[in-house]
Amino acid sequence: MAWLPVDTQWRKIRKISREQMFSVPRLDASQGLRKEKLQKLCEYVNQCCEMGRAVDIGRAAFTTSLNLMSATLFSVEFAQYNSDSSQEMRDVVWGVMKGIGSLIWPIIFRIDPQGILRETTVCFEKLFAIFDRIIDDKLKSSRGEKSDLLEALIHLHQRDELSRNDINHLLLDLFVAGTDTTSGTVEWAMTELLCNPEKLSRVRNEITNIIGENKQVQESDIPRLPYLQAVVKETFRLHPAAPFLVPHKAEADVEINGYIVPKNAQVLVNVWASGRDSGIWPNADSFLPERFLDHNYDKIDFRGNDFELIPFGAGRRICPGLPLAYRMVHLMLATLVGNFGWELEENVKPQELDMNEMFGLTLQKAIPLKAVPTKLCPKRNPNLDSRAHDLKSWERDHFGNVEHQIVICEKQLKLSSPIPTSTEIAARDAFGGSPG
Ligand code: HEM
Repeated sequence: MAWLPVDTQWRKIRKISREQMFSVPRLDASQGLRKEKLQKLCEYVNQCCEMGRAVDIGRAAFTTSLNLMSATLFSVEFAQYNSDSSQEMRDVVWGVMKGIGSLIWPIIFRIDPQGILRETTVCFEKLFAIFDRIIDDKLKSSRGEKSDLLEALIHLHQRDELSRNDINHLLLDLFVAGTDTTSGTVEWAMTELLCNPEKLSRVRNEITNIIGENKQVQESDIPRLPYLQAVVKETFRLHPAAPFLVPHKAEADVEINGYIVPKNAQVLVNVWASGRDSGIWPNADSFLPERFLDHNYDKIDFRGNDFELIPFGAGRRICPGLPLAYRMVHLMLATLVGNFGWELEENVKPQELDMNEMFGLTLQKAIPLKAVPTKLCPKRNPNLDSRAHDLKSWERDHFGNVEHQIVICEKQLKLSSPIPTSTEIAARDAFGGSPG
């Protein structure tokens, strides 16, 4: 879908995924399945607690994303935590991402000096073989129900509205676009929280105070957890999963801020840089979720209306999976933080944690995050309490006088005008389609 121009086929597929998968009733109907998969994540981390073993957070989050997605799409489970199958699937998804990522540089893609295209073809074939098997099984067992996306797609196929090839490609798009982006975001959020133990405690305290001790956070609880939401927004600001969005193409000559973008130019939107622009964000390089609780910033959201923060893109090509990603990221993070204490592996201090990023079509952590979980005592965890700093004085030390900085930031916003005007928004609508 991401590589189709804005045409009838793109509109048809987008409409199907919106109606059959990402609508609120559809997502609400499948939340029980996602709850089960999160329970499995808890069981896995519990086992690691008992064995005193570190958890590879990115890998565990990937397995969970894979299972949450496959539960939502096909009502089946794809991967086990302790087997190689999820790592294999992750390698395949990364292989596809690497191939697609090289499309950003079309010449390299055409010459293919590193054989990426060949590798990508193999990965595509592996994924199609998996989907073919699942479709065949569904066709055999189908009784004409439409209880998950795949059954709805098969129903459209039987009415000749969708070819089998269309179904295969749509499933591939959803899996590739949805798994690594979601798990990567969770890994970065946990990394930042482990570097800032007082913020980790604040998330956990919020969950305990609002939801209750030993209770699982439900999807409907997310709006009641403002600090958790602020942590997720701050993670999207600093570590957007798709740092350049997906390449866009100008359909006509467009003038933006005095610059001409010629017809057919490939346009990369650097959301990674705008997230770290000190003209927009005070203390731009620091992880400060509190900024999103401040009255000047609390209305900023990532649903495509606030151009300072667009990790899912904006306009008609905005990520269609946003409603599912929103639920998955918040719930995975709440499950990991609300149910367990976390320590870095022996000898690693928070300030020494490797924060390097690997740029591609998606942004990955260069060195995987490994952390040792501990079971939380039912009442209070003295370890965590003693580690928690006085939050207020810490914020004062690191963030300074918040109100003062925000006044400065507003002035800078007016001077540099980084937020597009309505004319620019209209002009941007002329973009769409893919370079292909
Ligand atoms: C944290 C999670 C996610 C992030 C940050 C993310 C981000 C993005 C971005 C930046 C784009 C391109 C928008 C543009 O270029 O304007 C995109 C497109 C897309 N995403 Fe996501 N995404 C996430 C999760 C998901 C999920 C869970 C799914 C599906 C289950 C999904 C499916 C798609 C698809 C199919 C497209 C292509 C849409 C089109 O071109 O019309 N994404 N996503």
